[in-house]
Amino acid sequence: MSKKITDYSDFDYKKIFWEKGDRQYEDFCDHLAARRLLPKQGQKFLDVCGGFGRLADVYLPRFADCTLLDYAPNLLELARKMRGAKLKTVQGSVYELPFADGEFDAALLVRAAHHLTDLPAAIAEITRVLKPGGRAVIEIANKRNILEILRWCLGRSKMRPFALAPAKRGAKDFYNFHPRYAEKIFKQNNLRLKKTLGVSNFRLPLLKKICGAPLLCFKERLAQGFSGWLKLSPSVYYLVEKQNA
Ligand SMILES: C[S@@+](CC[C@H](N)C(=O)[O-])C[C@H]1O[C@@H](n2cnc3c(N)ncnc32)[C@H](O)[C@@H]1O
Repeated sequence: MSKKITDYSDFDYKKIFWEKGDRQYEDFCDHLAARRLLPKQGQKFLDVCGGFGRLADVYLPRFADCTLLDYAPNLLELARKMRGAKLKTVQGSVYELPFADGEFDAALLVRAAHHLTDLPAAIAEITRVLKPGGRAVIEIANKRNILEILRWCLGRSKMRPFALAPAKRGAKDFYNFHPRYAEKIFKQNNLRLKKTLGVSNFRLPLLKKICGAPLLCFKERLAQGFSGWLKLSPSVYYLVEKQNA
């Protein structure tokens, strides 16, 4: 499989995607899920494809030594400006993490798997840098979400939501995954599944308009656990633990 990199170097991800995109609800959902799944404390932590460190407020108070790795230098610079010296930044690719085997107690991969043309290689690399017993929170864009199933049933989408193979969406490299595809990769890497959350359950422009972000955030709090069991939400968060070899 190719290991193409989606380059954010010329993209103001914070301003354009988050601020102008009116995504308070989605930001809340990611924070809530990360807060619920990440270990409460630990030594060394790695935010993989961490962008500008949007979720750093969740992990910085919990871990003594935090590193953010991303490919885009502009986002790393922004992360340093926003978080200061307490967040180390490293430029690199998830496919070749510049860290020793077993270096980290915990890792996070959020809103990045959908850019990865070789998800198995990326997860193998994240597993390598985790210590035995270390934990990772890994988020995938779920191709088997309720809306995609409806679209497919109505003949409005060619993406087959129940097929295991990753689906490429749109002209750009943007991949959606079947939950069982991700779970198979975890198994192959000796990662034991500890917990699953269904996230961004109400990510619909019309719902946002009618209900407003605060009400949707309240509903999201109630929905994440239950929808983690169903795995029909647009985004699925996994907590996995590296087993002893
Ligand atoms: C949608 S952003 C998500 C950033 C962050 N995790 C968040 O949730 O705000 C995707 C990030 O993945 C990074 N990225 C894409 N491919 C990468 C690769 N192969 N190695 C490292 N970073 C990569 C991009 O530079 C970008 O910052």
